[in-house]
Amino acid sequence: MRVAAARRRPVQDCVPAGAETTLPEAPHKKLFIKTYGCQMNVYDSDRMADVLALQGYEQCDSPEAADLVLLNTCHIREKASEKLYSELGRLHALRRERRGAGNDLRIAVAGCVAQAEGEEMRRRAPYVDVVVGPQAYHRLGDLIGGLGKEGERVDTEFPADTKFAQLPQQERSAPAAFLTVQEGCDKFCTFCVVPYTRGAEYSRPMDDVLAEARRLVSLGAREVTLLGQNVNAYHGTRADGGRCSLGELVRRLADIPRLDRIRYTTSHPCDMDEDLIRAHAEVPALMPFVHLPVQSGSDRILVAMNRRHRADEYRGVVDALRAARPDLALSGDFIVGFPGETDADFTATLQLVHEVGYAHAYSFKYSPRPGTPAVALADQVSETVKAERLAALNELLEEQRMAFDRSQVGRTLSVLMERNGRYAGQLGGRSPYMQAVHVDAPAELFGTIAEVTITSAGPNSLTGHLKDGQRSADAA
Ligand code: 5AD
Ligand code: SF4
Repeated sequence: MRVAAARRRPVQDCVPAGAETTLPEAPHKKLFIKTYGCQMNVYDSDRMADVLALQGYEQCDSPEAADLVLLNTCHIREKASEKLYSELGRLHALRRERRGAGNDLRIAVAGCVAQAEGEEMRRRAPYVDVVVGPQAYHRLGDLIGGLGKEGERVDTEFPADTKFAQLPQQERSAPAAFLTVQEGCDKFCTFCVVPYTRGAEYSRPMDDVLAEARRLVSLGAREVTLLGQNVNAYHGTRADGGRCSLGELVRRLADIPRLDRIRYTTSHPCDMDEDLIRAHAEVPALMPFVHLPVQSGSDRILVAMNRRHRADEYRGVVDALRAARPDLALSGDFIVGFPGETDADFTATLQLVHEVGYAHAYSFKYSPRPGTPAVALADQVSETVKAERLAALNELLEEQRMAFDRSQVGRTLSVLMERNGRYAGQLGGRSPYMQAVHVDAPAELFGTIAEVTITSAGPNSLTGHLKDGQRSADAA
């Protein structure tokens, strides 16, 4: 399971949209959030921290130090619920120890496993205080606040519009911020739980997205990644009642002063329309990196997966994107060992990877997800074969990633300095192509975009120096 490195930010002093900035004196309680899964969960965790800040919670670094532990779960692959229950068992033991010492611990579960399990989780793990689904977490404060008063403890309601309208606005932002613009999915790929856990597709109104982006920029963001399970299906309402596509949204965002970089993820090939492709040619702030999952290179498997396109149509989308933006770097998701996948099907996937050339990619063994149509398909592939195919695919993808990274050596790239480096005097950031870059640079460059000449490509990141002699002391 891909575990996102949660970008934790201290959350204090958050106020609801439009409220006065003086907060009632709240006792400082500690909150530990563990985030599993995708960037959307990272965004949700940050927003839940904003909600809980209104109850006086500040984030801390460990469950041991916390008054409330919140697990924000992912259901997309593997034995998510079993892993969650063992994590909950550990927290239960911690709570018993702490209660013995008169220092109670609250436990809350959010995210897609919470959605899928709902009341069942309260039965299997009755010590869990609160269970909240991805569309109901704006109510987390009420649920936690109601504990001990026979309040409600489970909320897995669905309307995403209610949630966004009720979340407090952000009070802090990282230089590279996430912004959820779309949630849910109507595609129903036969392997995927998202349409069931996140519900039907919902796009936030255009003006709400623009207001949130302006707010993030006013708090120091220079880059915004627009998030959605099927982000390029975005079709938010405009004030005039019309529909705004993702391409139009990107253009409107690019007009915001100091918003220098725009990204979006995750896209479905069928929703990659001409306008969005043209935006890659016409909007300099739109970064030349697209995550465009294909899952398989075999048409037979694509049909069985209900992906709604053939491999050649995917190639056509990639060609159009590269015609619009010749330096575009691609990332993808792949599933190996989908039911019925033969050696020939898998070879077609390798062939497609050879032809497309990826800068980065994720690959997974097919994992049967309860409730999805693919579970019932005949010809499930053995674990051994899945493991062999995954190893072969990973080897090829890794070669491509390293070749792409090496091709940047000697180039000068703009890097958004968004975190500390590996040692004092170094900062870390991302290139336009999403590569991690380490640079010797003074701390005052944090949050700025610097021109960096790439000097080497390591296994996981690039290293470079500031262009134009703006070097740190040891390099001068
Ligand atoms: N098994 C394996 N991988 C899956 N994904 C989604 N569902 C499954 C599953 N059942 C992968 C897809 C998707 C990514 C987010 O997770 O590749 O694009
Ligand atoms: Fe899942 Fe993506 Fe398919 Fe939607 S498009 S069902 S989120 S894999």
